Amino acid sequence: MLILGIDTSCDDTSVALLENGRKILSHVVSSQADLHGRFGGVVPEIASRKHVELIDAVYDEVLSKAGAAAADIDLVGVTAGPGLIGSVLVGLCFAKGLCFALNRPFVGINHIEAHAMSIFLERDVEFPFLALVVSGGHTIILLMEGPCNFRVVGSTRDDAAGEAFDKIAKFLGIGYPGGRTIEEMARRGIKDHVAFPRPMMDDNNCDFSFSGLKTAFLNYAKNNPVDASTMAHVLASFQEAICDVLVSKTFRAARRSNAKRIVVGGGVAANGRLREVFFERAPQEGFEVMISSPQFCTDNGAMVALLASFYAQKGALSPLDIKGYSRMAMR
Ligand code: KG4
Ligand code: ZN
Repeated sequence: MLILGIDTSCDDTSVALLENGRKILSHVVSSQADLHGRFGGVVPEIASRKHVELIDAVYDEVLSKAGAAAADIDLVGVTAGPGLIGSVLVGLCFAKGLCFALNRPFVGINHIEAHAMSIFLERDVEFPFLALVVSGGHTIILLMEGPCNFRVVGSTRDDAAGEAFDKIAKFLGIGYPGGRTIEEMARRGIKDHVAFPRPMMDDNNCDFSFSGLKTAFLNYAKNNPVDASTMAHVLASFQEAICDVLVSKTFRAARRSNAKRIVVGGGVAANGRLREVFFERAPQEGFEVMISSPQFCTDNGAMVALLASFYAQKGALSPLDIKGYSRMAMR
């Protein structure tokens, strides 16, 4: 069974071909980061136009790398939302056209759920487990009760954690996307150089807030020099505050949900310090933490193909007239 997965939810044109829902035959991510860098963030109109330009070539490359032909594809999974609507529609319409032409079934996929399940590309996880999805657009905790069955346990009330990284990078003029650059610049920094706040960390809930932390950073930078001699320390302190809150609140959510296993996905899960803090604290808290390889944390078509295989196994295929969504209600 060959499953094609397509994700064009934001600024990466990603396509992958999986065998039996798990084995990756080929996997291509064409990043547009260079195009958006000078704007300090994704420009939706530029992103959707670039997807239109790239989608055929990326699809062709995936097939040729796998030595497969279009007729070999048995099922197509595609992100139907949430995401930038123009970008989502490029992948969605491409997938619909392909399924119509080849007369193949297709499944519209929730991008956040795909991040939560991406760990299955590398290993099996026993249900139930708690999933923290932490990316540029989302910071949300889901209780994954079974395949294709989850409920929301907590989420951000304002900015996503990745958005906080990206906005600070934009303010400092150090490029887009900001997370990876900040991680690199913070590597030799002193983590408690600045006592940044840990918003909502001790609140008796499982929600997050990152916009106050961003404001605290901007206020600090107005009153204190952030130059070559202090940059690494200030960024390390900022990154530490984000990691501390993410890990502490996820553990709180796990305790409340009686979950023993925790999975972390989404672009920010590629952050080395976040991974370290999760793995350092997990044993003493009694949790097993699992995090995908960095290439499967950031947006990719493989996680979409993988989740499509779970839906297909349940017989939950999508009709060809489903819509694309910029926002999607999470159950
Ligand atoms: O999952 P993703 O590729 O796209 C969305 O669904 O949003 O996540 C992109 C986000 C960006 O905000 C980016 O700055 C962040 O993930 N990111 C990181 C790292 N790599 C990517 N944040 C912190 N550290 C990283 N190494
Ligand atoms: Zn994503």
